[in-house]
Amino acid sequence: MTSTVTLNDGTIIPQLGFGTFQVPPDEAASTVATALEVGYRHIDTAQGYQNEEGVGRAIADSGIPRDDIYVTSKLTNSKHERDDALRSFDETMDKLGLDRVDLFLIHWPLPTQYDGDIEGTWKVMLELQETGRVTSVGVSNFQPDHLERIISATGVAPVVNQIEAHPFFRNDAARAASHEHAIAVEAWGPLAKGEAVDDPTIREIASELGREPSQVVLRWHVQRGDIIFPKSMHRERMEENFAIFDFGLSDEQMERINGLDRGEDGRQGPNPDTFDRV
Ligand SMILES: NC(=O)c1ccc[n+]([C@@H]2O[C@H](COP(=O)([O-])OP(=O)(O)OC[C@H]3O[C@@H](n4cnc5c(N)ncnc54)[C@H](OP(=O)(O)O)[C@@H]3O)[C@@H](O)[C@H]2O)c1
Repeated sequence: MTSTVTLNDGTIIPQLGFGTFQVPPDEAASTVATALEVGYRHIDTAQGYQNEEGVGRAIADSGIPRDDIYVTSKLTNSKHERDDALRSFDETMDKLGLDRVDLFLIHWPLPTQYDGDIEGTWKVMLELQETGRVTSVGVSNFQPDHLERIISATGVAPVVNQIEAHPFFRNDAARAASHEHAIAVEAWGPLAKGEAVDDPTIREIASELGREPSQVVLRWHVQRGDIIFPKSMHRERMEENFAIFDFGLSDEQMERINGLDRGEDGRQGPNPDTFDRV
């Protein structure tokens, strides 16, 4: 059983999903099939992960009604120009084998590429939404000024901003800017790529609660209100990561985890202001 978040367009997303970054293409179908068996009903993929086909196969073979699974994909960095974006979206739908995706995101803002035309890319996303083949559109790795720019150009706010966030990098500036515009935050790398489970404070809180360190970290995210989709290739870990709705952290335990933030030094991924790989 997982909780849900209502997005600013009125649609509903499961707060806990399954991430597929670095799930190899040839293992994607079996890995996602296992995640669906465990109970996950929200899958996060991307054009850049090259595993959309496996994700689609797992969904088709699962026998689970399409509308019971929330599916997200993302526009890859090399396809921001209108024609490329439209064509690559068609390919995404073919690979997923779906006629509708729940959420499609701009993967990275790339402010130093494409003449800095973040607004133009956002307009293409809105055009895609008009076709009815994407229910909701959002962004990923957008900094506060990137959000301001696309909203003032179009008057339309994304439903989510998917950003790096975990105990070592709370990323509260981008979170606050998102919340100001009623944009839900999706925290990628919620386990800090697995490193957070070895942190002594996390382990101490886990032993206080009789839970696993991963569950403590994921529960912290959920209590902050963020949407998460931890990735694992292992069924036991998928099960562990899924079982986070039958306990809670006290305010004091939340504060101890908040104290692990290292600011910019805690960032594990690229800085969106300078990241320019297409
Ligand atoms: N928008 C973006 O730019 C962006 C960037 C990165 C990620 N994402 C999305 O966010 C999702 C999650 O982020 P992520 O995959 O980078 O990192 P993550 O979920 O924080 O961590 C995944 C790592 O933690 C390990 N792990 C998982 N469960 C564990 C547990 N219970 N105990 C110990 N270790 C555990 C996994 O190993 P095993 O697989 O070996 O179990 C893997 O090495 C991605 O899969 C992707 O969907 C988006």
